[in-house]
Amino acid sequence: MRMPLSHPLRTGTASGSPSRSQGLLLAVLLLSSAPTAQEPDAPGLFLANCAPCHGENGDGHGTTKLDRPARSFRDGGFSYGNTPEALFRTITGGIPGTPMPGFDTSLSEAERRALANYVTTLGPARREVRTEETVLVVEDRPAVAFGLLGPISPRAEAHPRGLLIGTTSGLSFEYRIDDVRLLGIRQGEFVERTDWTGRGGTPLKPLGKVVYLNEGGNPPALFRSVHDGNAVPLIARFERSWIRNGHAGLAYRLFETRDDPPLLRVEEGVDGYGSRIGSGFRRHFILGEVREACRLAIEVPRTGDGEKLGTFFTVDPDGVYPARSWKIVRRPEGPVECVGAVLDGAFPEGVGGHLEFALPAGSTVHLYVVTVLVPEWNEEVRRGLREVPFP
Ligand code: HEC
Repeated sequence: MRMPLSHPLRTGTASGSPSRSQGLLLAVLLLSSAPTAQEPDAPGLFLANCAPCHGENGDGHGTTKLDRPARSFRDGGFSYGNTPEALFRTITGGIPGTPMPGFDTSLSEAERRALANYVTTLGPARREVRTEETVLVVEDRPAVAFGLLGPISPRAEAHPRGLLIGTTSGLSFEYRIDDVRLLGIRQGEFVERTDWTGRGGTPLKPLGKVVYLNEGGNPPALFRSVHDGNAVPLIARFERSWIRNGHAGLAYRLFETRDDPPLLRVEEGVDGYGSRIGSGFRRHFILGEVREACRLAIEVPRTGDGEKLGTFFTVDPDGVYPARSWKIVRRPEGPVECVGAVLDGAFPEGVGGHLEFALPAGSTVHLYVVTVLVPEWNEEVRRGLREVPFP
């Protein structure tokens, strides 16, 4: 806040020597605008927290050896968005599956905002971005968009009925909703709609970069019902999307066959997750309106084409929730997926990402699944997973 300071000073000198009251006013202004804790020292914060990887002048040549180079800010061209808001989100949540950590807990919001602005000054002058009317931006609340989605990966298919949920963490969650399944996650700007007049079939152009692919973008059903040891994939029929208190998600009903009445209702909430060890995302499922007693099974994550690195349990640091079950899978040419799950209201059987549990008629159960994506699996990550908060 240097701007108002020059003002009384100039009027003072223009009219001769400053009056006593003007002098006092000046002193008060000088005192109140002296650099204080309220004004973060962005260059200093950058040197301390970012320069080891990004280099002192932001050229990407820091002192820390990385398998994957940190971004040079000097040539611009940000993959995850170059607006101060997008940069703020990247700095807050980190980038899943890369060494770029989240500073959510280690730096204050004011410090992260100051760094976001500072990073923009390191690059070439930013051309004035004309915000197209067709671009939907997530600001301080989540947003959703429905429409046709192109294939999220070369191995995946297009989905005429797609849904994108943009969260304030800067991650967007891409779903098919003909039979509800999470296809993958993007980071960066939200979405461009190529046609605002069409209803339903409007093609969507997601703007973020894919940071996570669920089973190559072609995932099987998440929930299965178990009869005599046989697991039958359940059909998930979309009901609606929702935005509430800064959170967003969707609701659907699970069916055993197209003709049966629904077995239960699922409300799923999604959000980003960032921490020192790595970033990723959370899914919170509320399983309710259970029509008749049943047994459900889920596998998070499925090993698929990946390599299983381990399974284990951790206990809730607060001792409130049951043990979390973890499964670690390395994807070919991808990050390491560390997936933890915990059930509240039901007792799971099974180990290592495979959870099987009974749901009495009329019961409600909460399932929390956290996915942390890290470039490498090591002891430090394993220790860090113990601290991951669940609900
Ligand atoms: C441990 C190393 C490390 C540290 C510390 C680090 N970064 Fe990064 N950062 C990276 C890497 C690696 C990438 C590139 C990730 C990728 O492959 O896309 C990155 C990417 C970014 C991006 C995204 C650029 C884009 O393409 O959109 C921003 C912004 C960023 N860092 C800002 C910061 C700031 C600000 C700090 C300090 C508060 C910081 N980083 C600290 C390693 C680091």
